[in-house]
Amino acid sequence: MSTLKAVRGTRDLLPPETALWNRIEATARAVFARYNFGEIRTPIFEDTALFSRGVGEETDIVSKEMYTWEDRARAQSEKTQTLTLRPENTAGVVRAYIEHKLGETGQLQKLYYIGPQFRRERPQKGRYRQFSQIGAEVIGPPSAGSESPLRDAEILEMLATLLDELGITGWTLHLNSVGSPADRARYNEVLRTALVELAPRMCPDCQRRAVTNPLRVLDCKVPEDQPIIETLPKIADSLDADAQTHFAAGTAALDASGVPYTRNHRLVRGLDYYTRTTFEFTHGGLTPQGASSPGAPVIGAQNALLGGGRYDGLSEMIGGPRAPGIGFAIGEDRLVLTLLAQQELAAIAEKADVFVAPIGEELNPAALALARELRHSGLRVELGDGSFRLKKSFEIADKQALNILILGEDELKSGILTVKNFSTGTQSKIARADLAEHLRKV
Ligand code: HAM
Repeated sequence: MSTLKAVRGTRDLLPPETALWNRIEATARAVFARYNFGEIRTPIFEDTALFSRGVGEETDIVSKEMYTWEDRARAQSEKTQTLTLRPENTAGVVRAYIEHKLGETGQLQKLYYIGPQFRRERPQKGRYRQFSQIGAEVIGPPSAGSESPLRDAEILEMLATLLDELGITGWTLHLNSVGSPADRARYNEVLRTALVELAPRMCPDCQRRAVTNPLRVLDCKVPEDQPIIETLPKIADSLDADAQTHFAAGTAALDASGVPYTRNHRLVRGLDYYTRTTFEFTHGGLTPQGASSPGAPVIGAQNALLGGGRYDGLSEMIGGPRAPGIGFAIGEDRLVLTLLAQQELAAIAEKADVFVAPIGEELNPAALALARELRHSGLRVELGDGSFRLKKSFEIADKQALNILILGEDELKSGILTVKNFSTGTQSKIARADLAEHLRKV
């Protein structure tokens, strides 16, 4: 029989790496709480129409990458539906905002999420078919200040804080404005015209995009095309006064917070719902434009740690009230890869405080009782087995724990136990009542 394996593009996360995932999530939750965000959990699958309308029929995500199936009716009361594993979480959050009439509270909704997303992309380092995002959205009626550029600056400042607290060094914030849908349509035509002459000298993908979707030419990573792309008109020149003022106010607030960023005129993002502010935080390796910079790309060619922006028309696109918003999603898998490149996996592995080694199987019950006592006092305890020889107990304990505690007949009777600390090599005799205290200190 052939052996079964995890499906291509999916993977198992094992200890000790999962300890790092947990630490990242705990840090994110703590930071989000300080900015007064609450957690939202939306379903992992949704009506396909949510993504085709929200993310956009023409995007790569919707046209090529979704896991979609016909969910057949099982009862007369049900109807056959087209369902999709969520490729991202923003559309789901906005759907929930509309469904639960959160706008009627009149307040800004500040929601964060952590969870798996699914895209049928070509798997490679840093790119998976099931991946995890840590994201947040700020959304509400305009009267709640949801359109304020201060919200944009605050989100970016929060992200800088989170990355710093996670210990990610060397990130770059790329910032741009894509204006209103009308601005973007205008820019698309400006690009289309400019590309008539230039595209024949570019890669086949660009030649195709020049006709179908000129904006996507800006994403091209082919080195030979880069000098040509640099000469193209910039979206900044197609923005109306409103988008320009909004961007200037957002960056002024960001400047005041001291968070560094670079204006990246090519950052147009691949989802249709974006309006005005767009951003990405990258790390090492390639820049979004595809130009090489020194340093090994630890997250593969996939250098965007996170992306986001404003989506002032998304709610209306999926049938809701006017509800401007801004948010982001961090690729958690990429955060982990980045942190692993900065520190040894071994340093993440947590050792138990103590390994309890019963001498002889008849001491197993007493060892379980002792382990229970120590665990109740908050210690991390690994329990051996009386069938092990002492030498074997020492070998296992040295790998798994900071100390070993020997439990034989004498120790049980006298209530004085022998503890050996592996790093110092010292052996101490400790009364059972003082054990937890002693182990906490060493
Ligand atoms: P996105 O740029 O499509 O935006 O994804 C955000 C991040 O998710 C990326 O920067 C990347 O780190 C990670 N990511 C995307 N695809 C994969 C993959 N196949 N494997 C591993 N990581 C991946 C969004 O999803 C928007 N919903 C973000 C947003 C929230 N905009 C406004 N609010």
